[in-house]
Amino acid sequence: MISTIFVLLISYHSTVFAFSSSGLAYCSPSTQTIRSNSNNGQRIQSKSSFALNLSSETGSKDDGELASNPSRRQMLAQSAVAAFSSLVIPTTAVMADENNNDSSSYPYNTQVSFGASWSAVDGLNEMDLSNRNDKVVGFDMKSYKAMRDDPTRTPVFEKAIKERLFKTKNPESQVVLDLGTGPFALFAMMAADMGAGKVYAIEGNPEAAASARYTVKKAGYEDIITVIEGLSTQIQLPEKVDFCVAELIGSVGSEEGVYATVKDAARFLKEPTDSDNWIPTRIQTYGAPASYTLHNLFGPPEFDWTKLGGEPVRFRCSDNGLQLLSDPQVIEDVSFAVGAADRSKEEGTLTFSISADRITKNVQPLFEEFKQKSDAKSSQQYAETTSRSLSGIAMWPRLFLNDHLIIDSRNYPLGGHQKSHWQTVLPIMSGRPLGSLKGGETVEVKYKFELPSDVTKPPQYSIQGVLKYNS
Ligand SMILES: C[S@@+](CC[C@H](N)C(=O)[O-])C[C@H]1O[C@@H](n2cnc3c(N)ncnc32)[C@H](O)[C@@H]1O
Repeated sequence: MISTIFVLLISYHSTVFAFSSSGLAYCSPSTQTIRSNSNNGQRIQSKSSFALNLSSETGSKDDGELASNPSRRQMLAQSAVAAFSSLVIPTTAVMADENNNDSSSYPYNTQVSFGASWSAVDGLNEMDLSNRNDKVVGFDMKSYKAMRDDPTRTPVFEKAIKERLFKTKNPESQVVLDLGTGPFALFAMMAADMGAGKVYAIEGNPEAAASARYTVKKAGYEDIITVIEGLSTQIQLPEKVDFCVAELIGSVGSEEGVYATVKDAARFLKEPTDSDNWIPTRIQTYGAPASYTLHNLFGPPEFDWTKLGGEPVRFRCSDNGLQLLSDPQVIEDVSFAVGAADRSKEEGTLTFSISADRITKNVQPLFEEFKQKSDAKSSQQYAETTSRSLSGIAMWPRLFLNDHLIIDSRNYPLGGHQKSHWQTVLPIMSGRPLGSLKGGETVEVKYKFELPSDVTKPPQYSIQGVLKYNS
């Protein structure tokens, strides 16, 4: 059945294809277009995504037009002939005792290192800024619509804005800042609709700012909402605001520069140290070791994952092609009230224990994924192999809009799949998945996220880990 997959890939494109976290993407070098069957739930469209249609939750077949990144795609193309190669089993493995069912392959008492480093803008669109050296994550209209139409996000923001406005008896007394308003001036319009006296809407993306201005004019809110184009760090407001709404939260929470933006934006607020004056008031990024279907299916010499250079693969949070191997833990955690946001790095060590129960339970959803493109016998084999493999540390965000309104992009606390426009981010942390897991292994991870205070300098990420097989 492997051959079916080979044929599929080769026939889709003999010269260029890219993996997508969530669906078959085939791209043409001449049109620089990637078509993906991902749903419209993508926060940011990856420049180069990976692709094989193993996902059941597919949207329309041609709903994706992605920005191009020919060099990266060419690199992928050169290595993009499919192969199913064996998992990495450490050469130092002491082979098993006879009582163990998995005795032929389990690498007792060994340790394997893995890791990845990348920049926040790697693989993502960038804002079109006048200084070419400046780099800020950018969005296209499809991504803005996905955010706006996310039923797990936008109504919760609306509620939080309402609660904050009506904390005072007189919402008209309130001056509001919508920082990063986007093309629909979404939260600014909500605040105005709810009776805010004055709203400033800042937007760094020139096209989005123009569109926001048009939206405001059309709604007849020009006297209430003032749209200001530019990066917030370069802007002065004529007055201080009562509260700020700033949805600048990436799939790794910090990747859209929220630490730097919020740190600077404190100067806009009358009382920046009051956590009620920030929506959201706190964000977290959760992470857990994960298995990934395609990382198991394709490997060297034909396919070289190291050519991604650390650039993470991005999944819909509902995508069963990615399964968690341990309970999630917090990696980033920041409160916006001043002081907490004044942080230049997130750094620490986490220890995860691979769950035998999760390995067992992951087999069925992985089987369903493989089954879409493969026969039952092969699918079962792929699913069992994949369920016992580690590809990297998956990450996703959690937002506290106030002390009781919380948005989860994956189920809390176990990290189960759910719909969200945010993505689950998986840096592939070794050329081949680390396999032969049984449960009980330890994954020790050191993470270091550099979070510059200049919004035009993208955060830098590094995760280094050790997988310890036990006896
Ligand atoms: C995730 S989008 C949110 C758009 C809209 N608020 C919504 O929730 O649908 C973030 C927006 O903030 C803008 N942005 C990010 N950082 C900014 C900054 N420091 N100054 C101005 N705009 C910024 C981006 O261009 C983008 O339009």
